[in-house]
Amino acid sequence: MLQVSALSLGYSGKSVLEFKGMQLAKGAQCLIAGPSGCGKTTLLYALAGLSPVISGSVSVEGADITKMGEAERDRFRGAHIGIVYQGLHLIKSLTVLQNVMLASYASGQKADRARAAAVLSQLGLSEKLDSLPDALSQGQAQRVAIARAALHKPALLLADEPTSSLDDGACAKVIGLLKEVAKEAGSTLVIATHDGRVREHFADVVALGGAA
Ligand SMILES: Nc1ncnc2c1ncn2[C@@H]1O[C@H](COP(=O)(O)OP(=O)(O)OP(=O)(O)O)[C@@H](O)[C@H]1O
Ligand SMILES: [Mg+2]
Repeated sequence: MLQVSALSLGYSGKSVLEFKGMQLAKGAQCLIAGPSGCGKTTLLYALAGLSPVISGSVSVEGADITKMGEAERDRFRGAHIGIVYQGLHLIKSLTVLQNVMLASYASGQKADRARAAAVLSQLGLSEKLDSLPDALSQGQAQRVAIARAALHKPALLLADEPTSSLDDGACAKVIGLLKEVAKEAGSTLVIATHDGRVREHFADVVALGGAA
C-alpha cells in the first residue's frame, strides 16, 4: 500500500536526505530510526506529502502524492492518512472528545461521536472525554493525539517521536496501543523515533544516518 522510490528530500532545493526507497504491505508496522538530524521527520512527513520533495515518488494506495497539486494532496491526506505530530497539536480550549472529533472536519467526514468515544475508550481514556488537554498527563495527551489520528481508520497511520518525554512504562504502553489501534483500524503504521526503547517492538526497521 506504500511504495517509496529514489527519494531526494530537502529544503530550499538543498538535499538533506537521499533515500533509496521502501515498500510496505497493507497493515505492516515499521519503524524509522536514526540519530537526531538524520532526516526521520523529513522522511515521515514526505509519506504524508508534507515535506518538500526534490525528486522521487511516494505512492499511497496506488496514488503518487508527489504528483498531486496542493489542494488534491490535502484532500487525499485528510481522507487516507492519520498523523500523530511530535508537538501533539491539541487545542487547549476543546475537550478531549472535541479534539478527537475535530479530525472529522479535517477529513471531510461527518463527525462520529460514537467512534471517537470508542477509540478513546480503547486507549484507556473513557474517564477523560470531557477533560481539557491541560488537565492530562503527557502520556494521556499522547493517547488523545493517537485517537485523533486513528479516528477515521486511515490507510496510513504516522507518528513522530510518540514516546518523547514518557517514562519507560508509559513508553511501552503508548507503543503497544499504537500498534493495537493500527491493527484494529487496518492501518499501515510508520513511527519515526530516535528513542532506542522503541526498537525492540518492531521487526521492520528503516535505519537512517548510518544507524545499525
Ligand atoms: N524546515 C526546514 N528548513 C531547513 N532545514 C530543515 C527544516 N527541517 C529540517 N531541516 C534539516 O533537515 C535535516 C533533517 O531534519 P529532521 O527534522 O528530519 O531530522 P530528525 O531525524 O527527525 O531529527 P530529530 O531526531 O532531532 O527529530 C536537519 O539537518 C535539519 O536541520
Ligand atoms: Mg524528528
